Amino acid sequence: MSADVVLAARGLTLVYGEGPRRVRAVDGLELEVRRGEFVGLVGPSGSGKSSLLFLLAGLRRPTAGHVELLSRRLDDAPDRNAEARRRHVGFVFQEPFLVPYLSVRENALVAALDADAGPRVEALAARVGVTPLLDERPHRLSGGERQRAGLLRALVNAPDLVLADEPTAFLDHPTGHAVMDVLRAEVGRAALVVVTHDPEMLAGADRVLHLRDGALEAAPGPSTTC
Ligand SMILES: Nc1ncnc2c1ncn2[C@@H]1O[C@H](COP(=O)(O)OP(=O)(O)O)[C@@H](O)[C@H]1O
Ligand SMILES: [Mg+2]
Repeated sequence: MSADVVLAARGLTLVYGEGPRRVRAVDGLELEVRRGEFVGLVGPSGSGKSSLLFLLAGLRRPTAGHVELLSRRLDDAPDRNAEARRRHVGFVFQEPFLVPYLSVRENALVAALDADAGPRVEALAARVGVTPLLDERPHRLSGGERQRAGLLRALVNAPDLVLADEPTAFLDHPTGHAVMDVLRAEVGRAALVVVTHDPEMLAGADRVLHLRDGALEAAPGPSTTC
């Protein structure tokens, strides 16, 4: 595998439930994402986008196949997966799930892996646009400000891989674009995979992958390859 492959999925499969309730949410998926790549992931509701992102982040165990993060296989050892995820993956959800009784700064610091992350949080806050909000609690923030606080937490360890699941779904367009600008700025150092229903948010993407029934579709078009 080439050294700049940050993320690989090999025969990745996730089945929920049993018997007649069985759902094959991700179906034998193959994928490689390189450092410096911005990959969009689109598809109908229920096509498996969130399930795929959870597998790629090591937040769920695949039924078959596996994920490689920086050429190391995520496996069944929960401790090792958690460690790899904390160190190398930033996950941005639709809702940032901030700890309500901690400030924006403390929400980021609790996710930081080293004890002296304070100056880094300050510098990152300026880039993410939350410097004036660092000492606020989440309930005092607008939706867009909360999502930025979530970005601050997701990016605090300078992850090699940033996964975002509909990060702009609850935001107006200008705010959504601002969030995407922050994410795109990470791409030089990291790889970025963004799930969205809004094609506008994928401006500048290197590839847009189309998911249907848990598998990637070959989609024609100049900017869409898989
Ligand atoms: N926890 C779960 N238990 C059972 N089925 C699930 C669960 N989560 C998702 N599914 C099913 O898996 C399929 C893919 O869901 P999901 O990954 O959420 O798709 P998307 O994010 O593209 O909307 C859907 O059929 C959904 O109903
Ligand atoms: Mg989803």
